[in-house]
Amino acid sequence: MISRPPHEPYREVPEGTFRWRLGVRPLDLADWLVITDHYTHEVAEKARIMAAHPNTAFCVLDDVEAECVEIATAVVDHLRHHHPDRFDQVELDPSLHPLDAAGRLIQEDLVVMVERDNDLIFAGGSVCFPNRWDLRSKLGRTMAEVHEPVTDLNAQLGDTVDAFLRRLTPTKPVWRLGWGVLDTDDLYQPLDGTAEPRPIDASPAAHHLRVERETLRRFPETGCILFTIHTHLTPLVDLPADSATALASALDAIPTGIAEYKQLDETGAAIANWLRESAGV
Ligand code: HEM
Repeated sequence: MISRPPHEPYREVPEGTFRWRLGVRPLDLADWLVITDHYTHEVAEKARIMAAHPNTAFCVLDDVEAECVEIATAVVDHLRHHHPDRFDQVELDPSLHPLDAAGRLIQEDLVVMVERDNDLIFAGGSVCFPNRWDLRSKLGRTMAEVHEPVTDLNAQLGDTVDAFLRRLTPTKPVWRLGWGVLDTDDLYQPLDGTAEPRPIDASPAAHHLRVERETLRRFPETGCILFTIHTHLTPLVDLPADSATALASALDAIPTGIAEYKQLDETGAAIANWLRESAGV
């Protein structure tokens, strides 16, 4: 089945001179949270993951209750107002932490940032679908510390990211995209040993495009920032020919260090060649 991914950020990778980019665009809050055909499956996955791996998928600092209540209330309001056919009666589970309860209602993963001692820090998250990183290891960290494993990111963009987040206001929310190619369609990819073992020697045809649609908004009452991550998966075998060739060109353009971070250093060239062959190029 040919299916075009909902977003195609790899089309924006310039040939030859790869640099990380802020890449933020204005967000219409009507589009803040996205409900797709995978909603029922992904919300069930979240419930399963939260039951099996609660300490991997949820953690929060003690003193951010007010921030999480503001966020959770906004999630419920958004669902009721923008998706009334499905969610007019939706409610938070009062037995759960408000951030956990909010995360289980939507496909997005949620990360909260707050200001402490003049630094913006990672204050907690409900993250069931991490792209090979560990939520708990980020708790209390600054943006530069959170991004430390990402090859060249702080050097190329660290100050820009910090300045951008400081200037972010409640009336100017944004969204951005990230992408990768993974050897599995399992959304649950933490590094702490609780994910399924990685497939051994997956063929190019067994890989999946993984696109993250991320939003950033500041909340007016508590001043916290919420980072949402909605992960969209598309099997490479389902890509139309023009998407496959665009993705192949982007894979060619990734420098070695960044390919290592994306775990594509050993497989990227073979995947790119396979994509071109399957597109008939
Ligand atoms: C506009 C601001 C931001 C930019 C430009 C940015 C950029 C990036 C990029 C390029 C990556 C590497 C992913 C890839 O393409 O392979 C990344 C990873 C990541 N980002 Fe951001 N990011 C931003 C904001 C944030 C925020 C606000 C958070 C959380 C509060 C966050 C958390 C992470 C995490 C957890 C990773 C994975 C790090 C790891 O592998 O250990 N980012 N980010």
